[in-house]
Amino acid sequence: MELRLKERLGRKFDEEIRFFKGWIDGPKQVGAILPTSSVTARRMASVIDPSLGLPVLELGPGTGIITKAILKRGIAPKDLVSIEFSTDFYQHLVKTIPGVNFINGDAFDLDRTLGDWKDKMFDSVICAIPLLSFPMEKRIELLESLLDRLPPGRPVVQITYGPVSPVVANPDRYKIKHFDFVVRNIPPAQLWTYTRG
Ligand SMILES: C[S@@+](CC[C@H](N)C(=O)[O-])C[C@H]1O[C@@H](n2cnc3c(N)ncnc32)[C@H](O)[C@@H]1O
Repeated sequence: MELRLKERLGRKFDEEIRFFKGWIDGPKQVGAILPTSSVTARRMASVIDPSLGLPVLELGPGTGIITKAILKRGIAPKDLVSIEFSTDFYQHLVKTIPGVNFINGDAFDLDRTLGDWKDKMFDSVICAIPLLSFPMEKRIELLESLLDRLPPGRPVVQITYGPVSPVVANPDRYKIKHFDFVVRNIPPAQLWTYTRG
């Protein structure tokens, strides 16, 4: 087997082991047993509009597959803020994807966790937190707080594995759109977007 292919497969396997270990440590927080596929990651990153010149906020980067897709979309590492709850994932991310503003903290405590980024506007939010593991009031509160940090019409994109939006409808407050169903993901993933205005 060609050396580069061997290295790539080795790295992918390492990532899957790391992810599985994360799942053993905190199945509810991790939410899936395998990392997000690159197809899903690209699809989620496609909502970003790099021409707006605003930073991007990522929640729950895990092993960093979506983080890499965000950078490939044309966002400079210094313009990406990414919040990860697990210290183990966080330490791995800081080592393997230099320059990104990784924060080891709780996305549900957004003001505190964002620190100096608290009052910044973002272009969009790419969210891989397993919302279904958290009560509905917390999901709504998080979504509202995220939308307050985006210009009108810019999206929060959310990955989930259930058949319906993980945040209940509230047409007076935000608009929900089914964005995609990605079969090339284990398990197949539903993508939803949420916008204001
Ligand atoms: C489904 S996994 C993300 C998978 C990631 N896309 C990958 O392929 O590696 C969910 C991630 O959200 C993180 N997470 C869960 N609750 C969180 C919270 N309250 N704040 C920040 N991150 C959180 C978990 O630690 C985990 O890394």
